[in-house]
Amino acid sequence: MTTAGRAISPADVLTALDRLAADAMGASGNGPMQIESIFVDNEIRPAKSGREFDSIDPSTGRTVARLSRGDAEDVDRAVQSARKALNGPWRTTTPQERGEMLHALASALEANAETFSILETVDVGKPLSSSRGDVAGAIATLRYNAGAADKLEGTTVPLGQGFVDFTEMEPLGVTAHIVPWNFPLGMAARSVAPALATGCTVVLKPAEQTPLTTLALASLFAENGFPPGVLNVVTGYGEEAGAALAGHPDIDGLTFTGSVETGRSVGAAAGRALKPVVLELGGKNPMIVFEDADLDRAISAAVEGAFDNCGQVCSSVSRLLLNENIKDEFLDRFVAKAGGLRTAAGLQDADLGPLVSREQHEKVFEHIESAVSEGATLLIGGGRPEGLENGYFVEPTVFDNVRHDSKIACIETFGPVVSTFGFDGEEQAVKAANALPYGLAAGIFTSDIDRAMRLAKLIEAGTVWINGWFIGGVQAPTGGVKDSGFGRERGMAGIGNYVRIKNIGLQVFEPQGSGDA
Ligand code: NAI
Ligand code: MG
Repeated sequence: MTTAGRAISPADVLTALDRLAADAMGASGNGPMQIESIFVDNEIRPAKSGREFDSIDPSTGRTVARLSRGDAEDVDRAVQSARKALNGPWRTTTPQERGEMLHALASALEANAETFSILETVDVGKPLSSSRGDVAGAIATLRYNAGAADKLEGTTVPLGQGFVDFTEMEPLGVTAHIVPWNFPLGMAARSVAPALATGCTVVLKPAEQTPLTTLALASLFAENGFPPGVLNVVTGYGEEAGAALAGHPDIDGLTFTGSVETGRSVGAAAGRALKPVVLELGGKNPMIVFEDADLDRAISAAVEGAFDNCGQVCSSVSRLLLNENIKDEFLDRFVAKAGGLRTAAGLQDADLGPLVSREQHEKVFEHIESAVSEGATLLIGGGRPEGLENGYFVEPTVFDNVRHDSKIACIETFGPVVSTFGFDGEEQAVKAANALPYGLAAGIFTSDIDRAMRLAKLIEAGTVWINGWFIGGVQAPTGGVKDSGFGRERGMAGIGNYVRIKNIGLQVFEPQGSGDA
């Protein structure tokens, strides 16, 4: 697939990605595949600069694909194309037509679900069944927003006799979407689907670690009736393509999910340009377990919450706050369960795969080493699993005796690492839960409903779960407070990010001389 700036048909790219997935399953040992990946105007091209970057399989560290390294020039072309589409054929589609196109895209994704799942596993490292779940989630997201497209009603406003006043939901315009690597397809779907449902156009930048499923989605997109320019994808690095997109003067809004640090810089760019921005940033999420909790349920939820996706979830359990009366029993059983988890390359579909990248692997080990040097007790894990010498693997890791002010207690790790703390009474639990600048998700485990509801209101987090973890779905809004960001995604709140309200007021004049007839 080498070309000198020529457009490549999306169908050919899909075929190439299919082959890549089949090669991965057959472990063919073929070298990296070169795939052009800048998707603008429903065509796929190399980057203007001709430069490329590598996509790595984190279970081996080997390069599986070489993609186009987009930069400011490619972003500019993508934004122009999105602007043209917004003012062109997309403007005249009816809400119902947009819903139908999104449904068609969902069906196309369903028909290609296995290819997408394999690509996601090859890129992110996650177990194949997790990827299958993510693809199913993306399909549900497309369908939810497809159904909402023709239900975005305005209101009539009571100004009194002589006036008619009403609101309309206009599309926000050209929207930029910067997506992280932990759920590449799912995160892309959750912001792109509502944007398209409302009539916006989109420029999407996937994370450099995980571009494959986004590119596959773009290829399907072109084949399902969407006019050119409605969705554009620029692959490349955050500091190049990402920063150029966040600072582009001709976007009308921006949605970002990722680190607090990058969130600050993206938010600052949006602020300078006076564009609305949604920021979903990190967490250091507390799970609080009281002495009256159903321990079986709490322990299962803690294992899933801490180790799912190898701990690379913004809402992972990272701090276990345990009532002193049950702490020892809880930890014995929790550690035994963690020790029973299997780790392997994602395609072997164990409980945990590798971390996404060498950088993430180094960061997680740095956190583990800092915990040990700050005096925490390692209950289990802390190293590479046996027999997995290559790739970015790390064992499920649990610490006790963690100082509240230590790095492992305060800064997002984004790996399968949990810190545990004891507490006595509600007040201490809430104080510990709210002590950090983060506020994304939190959990309360208790059989006392009054206590659960009391605490749910006191905890500073965008999401509070009671007697479960990862409760939610496409219908339930998610987002943060404090440094975990602002704005909500998913559900009808997520659709609200991509509309702006127009108020239209009409004055009704009475005919002259009338009124007393
Ligand atoms: P990041 O926040 O830097 O990257 C997320 C996305 O932003 C990627 O698409 C990246 O290309 C883009 N990006 C990076 N720098 C940018 C810039 N200057 N302007 C515009 N876009 C930019 O996260 P990174 O470096 O991959 O991971 C670092 C840490 O961030 C992780 O260890 C984890 O703690 C946290 N993180 C949190 C996520 C969440 O879901 N809340 C997701 C990914 C990472
Ligand atoms: Mg970064």
